Amino acid sequence: MLIYLGCCAVLAFALAIGLAVLGAAPAAAAHAAFAVGAMPLVFAAMGHFVPVLTRSGGASGTVHRLPLVMQGAGLLALGALGGWLPGWALHGAVSLGVVATVVFLVWVLGKGRKALGRPHPGLRWYVAALGCLVLALVVIGVGLVWPPAYRLARLAHLHLNTLGFIGLSAIGTLHVLMPTALGRPDPLAATRLTRQLPWMLAGIAGAAVAGGLPWLGPVAAVLVGGVMVATLVGWWRVHGWARLCGDGATASLLVAGVGLVVLCGAGALHGLALMPGRAAVAGFFAGFLLPLVTGALSQLLPVWCHPGPVTPARTRLRGILTRQGRIRALLFLAAGLLLLAGQVSGAALAALGVALFALPLLRGLLKVPAGGE
Ligand code: HEM
Ligand code: HEM
Repeated sequence: MLIYLGCCAVLAFALAIGLAVLGAAPAAAAHAAFAVGAMPLVFAAMGHFVPVLTRSGGASGTVHRLPLVMQGAGLLALGALGGWLPGWALHGAVSLGVVATVVFLVWVLGKGRKALGRPHPGLRWYVAALGCLVLALVVIGVGLVWPPAYRLARLAHLHLNTLGFIGLSAIGTLHVLMPTALGRPDPLAATRLTRQLPWMLAGIAGAAVAGGLPWLGPVAAVLVGGVMVATLVGWWRVHGWARLCGDGATASLLVAGVGLVVLCGAGALHGLALMPGRAAVAGFFAGFLLPLVTGALSQLLPVWCHPGPVTPARTRLRGILTRQGRIRALLFLAAGLLLLAGQVSGAALAALGVALFALPLLRGLLKVPAGGE
């Protein structure tokens, strides 16, 4: 499931770039990347990390299949926004997404209650992320049935989803993933997660309602950007730049963090109408989501393909996926900056970066079959 969704995410990212280049509706390209690619993968990754954070067993039965239900919801949303499915498909996507997310949220909360000892503070970031997704879907549902609210509902939906759902699950996971990828502990990660959550939530709430209260925009940008800057400074103090930049997976995660800070700066500007907001969608995709997902998959896919103790096959696959990680990350950062500035040439750099991940992935998966040497 995890390997399938990892590969699907890469295909969905390529599809999103293709749709944007071919001139499809911008919302269709955005949902190919975010709702078809990222959303189910985030569910699957949470299914992997929640048992780790609560020191308990993995997901089974219905919960195990929920990422596929979210993929279905994402495909419905993509079809409707692209004009290939009738409008009611959008209502179907919202309903399916809300029900599946609530079921998943109840499972995560149950895991937290039954945890052996205190659950890791990262769990509360996942609960908050899923809460943002439910809210984002309910809000856009309200906007669809009550047109006067549509403008504000759309703005709340997109900020709750990008900064809230994706942002919270990403930063919550990065605190655990970065030390794992570097193979050395971060004794301050849990404290940072506990301290940062209220600031992050205040920033997301601010950005979600800033469509109606523009003065909140810069405040929200400082809060969300500040949390990411504090995380970057924390990593620098604990691990040092040389280690962070020395490995393809960690350099990619680092660049994703830098990308989010840049996007918060852009958020402050577009919130005050000093630059177009739409460019931030492509900027978020190329400058944050792509380095985040490729960096995380470079570390996680080898573990998912070869679970248990480290084997030479796992090390080999990680080597293949991380080899071009640093150049890929720089391509994504440059693509994000260009797209933010409204330069479509950024799409070519993003496509090159995705190809530099997809081809080694294909080679790695074909050469190193799952479970084998
Ligand atoms: C089942 C899931 C989803 C549904 C039904 C849905 C529905 C919608 C709708 C109806 C719009 C307004 C489109 C327009 O006015 O043209 C929208 C916009 C948007 N949504 Fe979603 N959405 C879903 C999931 C997501 C997710 C998971 C994300 C991000 C993580 C996301 C990010 C956005 C963004 C960035 C926009 C603005 C796109 C643009 O104008 O370019 N959505 N969504
Ligand atoms: C903390 C960061 C952010 C803040 C404070 C912020 C704030 C705002 C505000 C206040 C508006 C409303 C502007 C208006 O009245 O038309 C807006 C619009 C918008 N924002 Fe953000 N934003 C942030 C980050 C992002 C990110 C990361 C994305 C990318 C996914 C994004 C995408 C958009 C889009 C697409 C619009 C609507 C543009 C339009 O259709 O006219 N924002 N933002």
